[in-house]
Amino acid sequence: MNIIGIIASQRKEGNTAFIVNKILEGAKEQSAETSIFGFADLDIKPCRGCWGCHKSDRGCVIKDDMQKIYDALEHADAIVLGLPIYMGQMSAQGKIFTDRLFARFSPRFSPFFKENAVKQKLILSFNQGNPDADLFKTYIDYTKQMFEMLEFDVKEVPVVTGLRNGPAHEREDLRTSLKDFGSALVVYP
Ligand SMILES: Cc1cc2nc3c(=O)[nH]c(=O)nc-3n(C[C@H](O)[C@H](O)[C@H](O)COP(=O)(O)O)c2cc1C
Repeated sequence: MNIIGIIASQRKEGNTAFIVNKILEGAKEQSAETSIFGFADLDIKPCRGCWGCHKSDRGCVIKDDMQKIYDALEHADAIVLGLPIYMGQMSAQGKIFTDRLFARFSPRFSPFFKENAVKQKLILSFNQGNPDADLFKTYIDYTKQMFEMLEFDVKEVPVVTGLRNGPAHEREDLRTSLKDFGSALVVYP
């Protein structure tokens, strides 16, 4: 099984990076092949809305580091998308990644939309400073539905809360629970 992690945060050693890495660690322990893409290391521009991806079979016309993710997406069985909550929503990096998925609808990605195509599994991993897990529930539920509309098989939507009280890497409770999400991803039917 091939799993890719996306860190939609500019903080190379921030909470989202820790969380995505831990989830992937659990998957690796179940012999999954993993790779990771972090916005801190990548130059990924916003969608231009040019519809170029729909006009040809060459995918997105923006030749930046998102091309590496497109290539990885083609071979991925599952995705772990790490999304910090900024101002009550996914980070701008998360939204840029999501918008650039628009090119999945181009002929380049048509195999994903063939009848009976196997959907890619997705863990939508949110994290936030506030300790209240229900605070952004409406937004998080909506986002899950949106990814389902994009034909992802959303398996889990873990929400790590209370990070304003200390960084994720200092939270003993997270180490096992996050790895469990990753290992479950490998054994899901
Ligand atoms: C610009 C900004 C906006 C934020 N807005 C919220 C918010 O609305 N609610 C919340 O609970 N936490 C908020 N936070 C806290 C982050 O969600 C939290 O620190 C997260 O773990 C950051 O992940 P990172 O280290 O990968 O950037 C915000 C942080 C930043 C930098």
